[in-house]
Amino acid sequence: MQSPDFVSMAAVAAISLALAGCTVPRASTEPAAPSAGTDRGQPIAEADLAVWNIDVRGPDGQGLPAGSGTVAAGKAVYDAQCAACHGAAASGGPVFGPMVGGIGSFKTDKRVLTPGSMYPYAPALFDYVRRAMPMNAPQSMTNDEVYAVSGYLLHLNGLVPADAVMTAATLAAVQMPNRDGFIFDDRPDTKAVRCMSGCTPISGSR
Ligand code: HEC
Repeated sequence: MQSPDFVSMAAVAAISLALAGCTVPRASTEPAAPSAGTDRGQPIAEADLAVWNIDVRGPDGQGLPAGSGTVAAGKAVYDAQCAACHGAAASGGPVFGPMVGGIGSFKTDKRVLTPGSMYPYAPALFDYVRRAMPMNAPQSMTNDEVYAVSGYLLHLNGLVPADAVMTAATLAAVQMPNRDGFIFDDRPDTKAVRCMSGCTPISGSR
């Protein structure tokens, strides 16, 4: 067991250390800027980044990978890997509601959210499915499978024919019904320029 003296000595030591800490000039506690000669980490190679860099741009499909898939192949992928949660022909299953129909509903007060009714750009469907589905094994499909199953979903929504072959080019060319249904966010703060002092107020604000 510690003696009272030891405890008080320890407390004094701790307080002195804390005080000493307080008197250290602030600048010296800030991390030093990395110098050119730093030996921590290693430069990242483009090839290492490539596996993470999977975003696809909606309007023109920039970032879509090479590959292709037919609607028929997509049905096979869908039946094997998606139907259990989403139901046959994407009509709605035990885990998620219908992914077909509702087209035009965005102009009413009873909006039905399906890829066909909501997505403004078909490449966004590819991006979402490749990134997140099947929910129990995301990013497990090949690009060809993602093209195929995206084509099948678009076909079920009446947006591509039964013999369609989806590629980067054909997917980006699909005109989604809700393409112009989103409003561009042009509120003043979306144009604000970063400013830390003496800033001009955003026009229209007080
Ligand atoms: C284990 C169940 C499960 C499986 C299997 C599954 N999904 Fe899903 N899926 C979900 C759930 C849950 C959501 C909703 C996720 C959310 O809102 O975050 C979803 C959402 C989606 C959406 C978005 C729908 C929308 O209206 O925006 C698409 C598209 C989709 N899934 C496609 C697929 C495809 C294609 C497959 C097969 C390759 C698949 N899913 C397999 C559970 C599943």
